[in-house]
Amino acid sequence: MKKTRAVITGVQGWVPDYVLTNQELETMVDTNDEWITSRTGIKERRILKGENKGTSVIGTEAVKGLLEKTNTDPREIDLIICATVTPDMFFPATGNIIAANVGAVNSYSFDISAACSGFLYGLSIGSQFIETGAHKKVIVIGADKMSAIVNYEDRTTCIIFGDGGGAVLLEPTQEEIGIMDTKLHTDGKGANFLHMKAGGSLRPASLETVANKEHYIFQEGSTVFKFAVTNMAEVSANIMARNHLTGDDIAWLVPHQANKRIIDATANRMGIGPEKVMLNIEKYGNTTAGTLPLCLWDYESKLKKGDNLILAAFGGGFTWGATYLKWGYDTKG
Ligand code: UT7
Repeated sequence: MKKTRAVITGVQGWVPDYVLTNQELETMVDTNDEWITSRTGIKERRILKGENKGTSVIGTEAVKGLLEKTNTDPREIDLIICATVTPDMFFPATGNIIAANVGAVNSYSFDISAACSGFLYGLSIGSQFIETGAHKKVIVIGADKMSAIVNYEDRTTCIIFGDGGGAVLLEPTQEEIGIMDTKLHTDGKGANFLHMKAGGSLRPASLETVANKEHYIFQEGSTVFKFAVTNMAEVSANIMARNHLTGDDIAWLVPHQANKRIIDATANRMGIGPEKVMLNIEKYGNTTAGTLPLCLWDYESKLKKGDNLILAAFGGGFTWGATYLKWGYDTKG
């Protein structure tokens, strides 16, 4: 009997309208467009403005668009997985809220906390349910409203992050396409270098934690950078080696968009030229769990059925990983 694989049958992204440019950031903190562009590759990022708007807005808009473009009745969805580190609230899961918003009444849902690697974790978990035959339609969302936890007085972090995300539909196939292999890693020692100090059970919110600005991202940038460069390149090279792939076999590298220099180093190590690297960091910045589905969405029209893609990410945790997949469809129309 042929193996059942999970294949992506649709992708949809969503970003808010408000554009926060490097020029506007120059008026907020001691920075400049030249520094941000040369050190990160970022020119602008999107910000979700307005009262009562959390990450579920991003996820809901992405899933609504996904259901429409794939002609899917929300009642057919079995499972919704939402990767985010900026949930609307601790509980219920943001996936639950999104499921209700889109009318996925027969679905159950949960969130995954794996920071920038969250979408890869979600893809891996979702694909297992398809491969075992347990489910027929699984939606994986990667979405973050990073502006909710960014300190706009800290020039080392506020220039990097933005809001946005996307969603994919996973369905079964017996063709030689879909999710072929995944390699995921975690190293909890990395927590020291990238975290949010307060608001959890360790340091519940108090006047003191607010006064100390402990509800914002803390990042030791240069340390995270070194780990990111090494590990994202390493895991990508590993997954290629164990699937007997060379740079020539890869149609696209889909890298987490944290820093263009990290992306370039990963592509170099894999023997992949810049023309095969998905890049949208200049317009969205780092949207954490959102970057990978946003890349797939932006480049969807260039993808062909059977294309070999390597998705790779590194982020808070530390978490990192890579997925090798064969793209599932040619874009219609
Ligand atoms: O997605 C989650 C995982 N996160 C990442 O992968 C991020 C990894 N880290 C990075 O991308 C980079 O470390 C940053 C973009 C955050 C920083 O770039 P860097 O090249 O590592 O800079 P640095 O932290 O070593 O700082 C170099 C200099 C410092 O000045 P001195 O001490 O050399 O005088 C900083 O104070 O640049 C200064 N600096 C800035 N200058 C202008 C730091 N931020 C800024 C800024 N504008 N926004």
